[in-house]
Amino acid sequence: MSDIKNIRDQFLSKLKNELSLDEINSIKTELFGKNGQISSLFKTVGSIPESDRKTFAADLNKIKDELQSLISEKIKEIETKEVNQKLEKEKVDITLPERPFVRGKIHPVSQTIDEISSIFSEIGFSVEEGPDVENEYNNFTALNTPDNHPARDMHDTFYLDENKEVLLRTHTSPVQIRTMLKDKPPFKIIAPGRTYRSDSDQTHAPMFHQVEGLHIDKDINMGHLKGCLNYFIKEFFEVEKIKMRFRPSHFPFTEPSAEVDIGYEIRDGKIVIGEGDQWLEILGCGMVHPNVLKNVKVDPAKYQGYAFGIGIDRLAMLKYGINDLRAFFDCDYRWLNHFGFDPLDVPTNYRGLSR
Ligand code: PHE
Repeated sequence: MSDIKNIRDQFLSKLKNELSLDEINSIKTELFGKNGQISSLFKTVGSIPESDRKTFAADLNKIKDELQSLISEKIKEIETKEVNQKLEKEKVDITLPERPFVRGKIHPVSQTIDEISSIFSEIGFSVEEGPDVENEYNNFTALNTPDNHPARDMHDTFYLDENKEVLLRTHTSPVQIRTMLKDKPPFKIIAPGRTYRSDSDQTHAPMFHQVEGLHIDKDINMGHLKGCLNYFIKEFFEVEKIKMRFRPSHFPFTEPSAEVDIGYEIRDGKIVIGEGDQWLEILGCGMVHPNVLKNVKVDPAKYQGYAFGIGIDRLAMLKYGINDLRAFFDCDYRWLNHFGFDPLDVPTNYRGLSR
């Protein structure tokens, strides 16, 4: 018995120390290996006098269990410590800044939409959105375009059902209707987005982008419209002066109506805006027709205002010297790499829109 007790005391005090995994394993061998101290004592059980044998074996088993569980506990402790140390070392500091983007580029159309939104938000316009898939009512009827109106043919509409009730919107003007139906005047919004017409050549794509503008309040007149568009064009092209002309036109939803062209010329195969004697139409506009206001329950005797629809793709082509509209939608990575913008350069009026 004293042997057993000695071994116990000796090893309990050994195991109290700070030990490495190797040291613990060698203690384990010292005790329970083939010739280990506990193993050797087990071999002597047969030679113990019958009278003491039972207690001896019982004591031996007890101490074996005690030491074994202490050893497993220690091993577990060390392993947990090792894992924690490893985790600590491999920690990633997610607050560190990322390396700057080297690949992805912002598409010129997205850049242009951001620039337009930034310019109009400076003068109090908020941004609205509408769905690409519209109903016939919002796209035509509510906009004072009756069933037999020639403007419906003008638009070469993509219809999505046989009854011609659901369609891909042919302009962003239905967002005027949606906005005025859900709120009360005054309204001062722009609505950028995709539009669709069955048309395709160097300056027309079946899917293109427009930004709608709508300003309805008491005493809004055509002078406000002119001032607003003049401010916008100058800000957008980042120039002091721009050649711009208002041409009388017709839209069912505005009266009077106008189209706006800006001057340009081609120099060394590139478009230069603001000068020259060529004109490019970039937007349609006018004073919102009283019938449109009635359709959305706004009293035309109290409220009136202007609306405009700008072709975004054309603006982007002019500003960034892109000659063929179709390149916008080719998804050619080399083209995007050349004409695209750095994702971290968000356009603002203060820092400069495009640099
Ligand atoms: N919706 C017209 C178009 O697509 C543009 C426009 C918008 C004209 C608002 C007048 C007022 O051609």
